[in-house]
Amino acid sequence: MSPRKPKPPAVPAEEPLAEGLAAPAEVPPAVPPAVPAEEPLAESVAPRAEGPTFRVSRRRAGDDRAHFDEFRVAVGREDTVLDALIAIRETKDPSLVIRHSCMHGSCGTCGMRINGREALACDTKVASLRAGPITVEPVANQRLVADLATDMVDFYARFEAAGLPLVRDAEKSPGRPGPAGMLAFERLENCIECGLCLSACPIARANHDYIGPAALAAAARVVEEPRGRDLGPVRALAGEHDSVWSCRDAMECSAVCPAGVDPARAILTLRRHLAANGARRLFGRGD
Ligand code: SF4
Ligand code: FES
Repeated sequence: MSPRKPKPPAVPAEEPLAEGLAAPAEVPPAVPPAVPAEEPLAESVAPRAEGPTFRVSRRRAGDDRAHFDEFRVAVGREDTVLDALIAIRETKDPSLVIRHSCMHGSCGTCGMRINGREALACDTKVASLRAGPITVEPVANQRLVADLATDMVDFYARFEAAGLPLVRDAEKSPGRPGPAGMLAFERLENCIECGLCLSACPIARANHDYIGPAALAAAARVVEEPRGRDLGPVRALAGEHDSVWSCRDAMECSAVCPAGVDPARAILTLRRHLAANGARRLFGRGD
């Protein structure tokens, strides 16, 4: 995996959620508080003392299709969908399968569809969602392990196929100076390999062989910054039937990307590169 930019310090873990964890009953203070009362919360961000209903997709090996289980769990104003799912697992159903690691939007493991939209569960506050039941489903276009967890192995393998291993040889050299074009370099380094772009992509939905936006963004980085590597295999892969020319510019990949990688732009870059190289080859100067 590509080295990460320094991650922000972990936020101290909050108290574990539990049913009825809502704020304890208030006891009138003996003396007026010195600190002025907070502004009343807007309705859309007010704490939901009773807790919203979560409709959670459930599916195990052998199940023909997924079904939804409903859970109601108390959440606080700052709680995320991932906090709520953990609370559900800890207090309602320990068999719920979810995946997470960093809890602060860096590792990409908690990607899922929340109310039909791809998002990181640890980066989505419950209070930011519309009122009503909250539907939580696994990302699409990837093999399901169970419930909300998908198998990312195939997805990661596409980075290798695109010519950009998750850890490049050059990146194993500490102290190596950054390349020219740092902005583009940082774009790819920002990819947290969450798979949300692949989930949102309508082409990937229709064609499971389509290599997908993240891998094409990786291939674009290779051609933008080859570092001496042979571009032939990358160009061949990008030019294949289920690759860069299959993209129909739906732009959904860039819309859902939580890291600003902008895979749609990268795909355009790759197309331009292939077209330019093709033109050079016509005149015997391409490779
Ligand atoms: S390009 Fe964006 S959405 Fe796709 S895997 Fe990387 S970070 Fe996730
Ligand atoms: S748990 Fe790491 S990105 Fe959500």
